[in-house]
Amino acid sequence: MTAKQLNGRELAQKIQQNLVPQVVEITREIGRPPRLVVVLVGNVAASASYVKSKEAAAKRVGITADIFSIPESTTTAELVATVKAIGREEHGPVDGILVQLPLPDHVDARTVLDAVPPDRDVDGFHAENAGLLSQGRPRFIPCTAAGVQKMILDAGVETRGKHVVIVGRSDIVGKPLALLLASRGPGGDATVSLCHSHTANLKAITRQADILVAAVGIPQLITADMVKPGGVVIDVGINRIQDGDKSRLVGDVDYDTVVEAAAAVSPVPGGVGPLTVAMLLENTVLAAKERNKAPSDG
Ligand code: GUN
Repeated sequence: MTAKQLNGRELAQKIQQNLVPQVVEITREIGRPPRLVVVLVGNVAASASYVKSKEAAAKRVGITADIFSIPESTTTAELVATVKAIGREEHGPVDGILVQLPLPDHVDARTVLDAVPPDRDVDGFHAENAGLLSQGRPRFIPCTAAGVQKMILDAGVETRGKHVVIVGRSDIVGKPLALLLASRGPGGDATVSLCHSHTANLKAITRQADILVAAVGIPQLITADMVKPGGVVIDVGINRIQDGDKSRLVGDVDYDTVVEAAAAVSPVPGGVGPLTVAMLLENTVLAAKERNKAPSDG
């Protein structure tokens, strides 16, 4: 059996096309396009490239996107001050603020992320938004987790009562995704196992997965023998590996072997990555709508 490929690019394009009329409408209402500010610290090539694709995608749907490039040598306090100044709109009106991760080791990422005003936290990483998600009343759902759920829903894969195994417990993907898939309603109601570096006998657990999500950042960790025959496998990893004298991108899934065991598998690139960007744009439109709503009485 060769698995169906879950194409994230096509789905992302569909989502982005649906956003265009919404952006037109909100632009008319507030007299300017929604605006996203991305804070990029240092010179990590992968981060710069992700940020560029976020900027380009935003512009394609009519969202204004600006990148604030900050030197690697910045301190936590300086970065907090910068993020707060952006939040106070000292650099122009802003609907969504995103601090690209990872930050340099000497910066306390948690403190910086908590400086983003929660009503403009389009990454959903602020403690308030993480708390709302955990209570089943999400505001901004972290983009990659939201993208994985969209991919599952779009593929018509049932989650209710199914066993989802997530490998990786990060605040960015694993934890929010576990909450999302275990929450009530369509695309939820799953039984979720959250595996990590201390999980004993990982393979025995991943082999039980109706849906297996790899979000751990270890190139090609998931091999065919770790997959339930006929299961759905979603690869969140983006790893650059050396291949002879060239380098190439691979996921956390060994695609070439897993494709022979699974019913469906997402590729890297062209799988979850484009959906992460599409979800960021959805969150930015949501932020612009919510912030610019007429105040209610009382
Ligand atoms: N780095 C890797 N993924 C993400 C993401 O979803 N948001 C941000 N801000 N940084 C990231």
